[in-house]
Formats: sequence, C-alpha cells, structure tokens
Amino acid sequence: MQLKNIQKLELPPTADMHVHLRQDGMMKLVTPTLSSGGVDTAFVMPNLVPPITTVERVVEYQSQLQALAPNVKFLMSLFLHPSVTPEVIAQAAAAGVAGVKMYPQGATTNSDNGVANLEAFYDTFAAMEKHNIVLNLHGEVLEALAPPGVTLEEAFLPTLKQLHERFPKLRIVLEHCTTAAAVEAVRACGPTVGATITAHHLYLTSHDACCNPFAFCKPIPKNPTDRDALIKAVVSGESKFFFGSDSAPHPLQSKTSAEQGKAPAGVFTQPYVTQLVLLALEEGIERGVIAETDVTQEKLEGFLSKFGRRFYGLPETSESKIVLERKGEKVSASVKTEDGSIEVGNSRADDVVFSLRWEAV
Ligand code: NCD
Ligand code: ZN
Repeated sequence: MQLKNIQKLELPPTADMHVHLRQDGMMKLVTPTLSSGGVDTAFVMPNLVPPITTVERVVEYQSQLQALAPNVKFLMSLFLHPSVTPEVIAQAAAAGVAGVKMYPQGATTNSDNGVANLEAFYDTFAAMEKHNIVLNLHGEVLEALAPPGVTLEEAFLPTLKQLHERFPKLRIVLEHCTTAAAVEAVRACGPTVGATITAHHLYLTSHDACCNPFAFCKPIPKNPTDRDALIKAVVSGESKFFFGSDSAPHPLQSKTSAEQGKAPAGVFTQPYVTQLVLLALEEGIERGVIAETDVTQEKLEGFLSKFGRRFYGLPETSESKIVLERKGEKVSASVKTEDGSIEVGNSRADDVVFSLRWEAV
C-alpha cells in the first residue's frame, strides 16, 4: 500500500487499550470522542480522584461510561493498592474486570496512592495469574531511583523481567512504551507479555515535550531513534505490540497557565487517535524510517484493532468498520462543553488528517 497516495482506507474499528476518560464533566466531554477517533473498544484507566480500588466503584464507573457511549465496549481496571487483596481479585474476576494498573507512587497524574514496593503485592499478582486478570504496568521508576543518564523507563525494565520470571502465566502489559530498549525487553519476554504504543510517541520527541505543554506527558517522549523504534514495532506485525493511546485530557487552562515545565502530564489525542497513528506512519515513511511496503492493510488491522483484542481475549471481528478518506480535514484546536466551562486542547491542532466515518459491514 502507498499510504501517501491512498485516498480511502477501510479498517475494522480501533481497539484503544489505554485511555483516560476521567470523571464528572470531563468524562461527559471526552467519552463521546472515542467514536470520532474510530474506537469501539477501550481499556479504561483507574487513576481517578480518588483512585478506583473497589469492585463496586469500577462497576459503577463502567455503567456511567456505557451510558455516555453505548456502542463502545469498555474494559475496566482497578488501581493497584493495598486494599486490592487476593479476595478483591476474585470478586473483580467475577465482575469481568480486565486488569489492574500499577502506578509507581508519585510517578504521574493522580498516582500519590501508587506503589512503593512491588513485592508487597506478590499475593495479589498470584491471584491475578490464577484468575487471568492482566497486570498493566506504568513502567517507570521514580526519578530518585534512576541511575544518571538512564531513562526512568529503561531503569524499570529489569523489574518487568523479574515479574515475568516470577509469574510466567500472568499476562502483563508494559503500558505506553517509549524506548527502543523497552521494545527489545518486551520482545525478550514470553507470549504473556505485551506492550501498548501510543499515537503521540510516534511523532513527539523530548525536544517537543520540553517546551510545549500540549506535548508534555509521562513517560516523556524520548530521542528520535526511540520514536523510530516504536514506528518500526507498529509495522512489525508482532502481536505483542498493540495500540493504546494513553490519551490523557487535562483542562486547557491548566496547560496554558502553568509555568514552563509545570503543566500537568498528558497528551489528548482521543478525537483523532486512528488518524494520528496513520499520520505518524506517513511521516515515518517520509523520513525513511520505514518503507511504503512496510505499511500493509494486515499490519494496520493487527496493530490498531486485532492484536489488542487478542491479548484481552475478545472477538477479533466487528459488525461495523471505519472509513478513512482524505478530504483536507484539519485537527480542531480543542473540544469543549457547550457552555465552554471545560475545554481540552487537541494534539496536533491544525494538521491535516484523514476524515473518519462509521459504516456497517
Ligand atoms: C496520565 C494522566 O494524565 O492520567 N498522564 C500521562 O502523561 N500519560 C497518566 C499516565 O498514564 O501516566
Ligand atoms: Zn495513561
């Protein structure tokens, strides 16, 4: 396929295996944007305020989201916390909860209640392994724990390996991987370990993230070579690597009014997620990182839709499809509520992307 010259593309709906949909007014604003980005299946992160640590709350949250986007399948997660005991894991499995997210304490947005010592959770991990619940890792160490010159993600990779060795049947996702080293570490693990790759880490580098609050996120985008390693993983056709946007909305105001370097971490891509992945691949081809022939229908379907569903044990077929056409559409500046009280800035505002619509198969 010659992506650059393609005017019209048909794909199965995208499965976005890492989304932040928040709560209250922000949740009402961003949840409906899943479908604009071509998504019919979403794995939802639990870092609300307070974090979601009970089965009762996660079930309630799921029904709130379902009411806002009736056509989306929501996979739900709990926030790893001492109250998430092996008994809670058994209840969670019975309620259909898909995963448990581990945030290192203080590593990112709303992670103050995160984990300081992973070994304290080994009984919980054993229960997850038994009940087939996925462990979703925010794979970064705290700044104080990374040796000089080593990224927070690379410093975490030995922990991924240890966890996998200790719990070989536990399905683990290294979320939002950002380095060439992480791609290799995931490859080196067995088939129970996968990784999500976002849209924005396919086009941002540390150079963007340092100075533009709308490009600032955790994990921080890295070097051009890391970005390019991620692009190559996307078109590798390896089912370990699947899409998870980590779209993370923050009020526009909190981004624009912050001092340099102090804006909340998170890039908002949800309304255009599929389109932004395609744009990043096109740019990868232009830079010579991948060849035209690396981007095939099958590989796009695998990365964007099938591999994530396969990892989570969902059917790989759908009753609808998304149709992408080049019509000169530009990414809008923001999404906002009718009364303008909540506004979120889009990543890559003003860039030209495919127009997306839904069709029955
Ligand atoms: C996320 C958020 O805002 O909730 N931020 C981010 O930069 N990705 C948290 C996270 O996934 O780290
Ligand atoms: Zn996230």
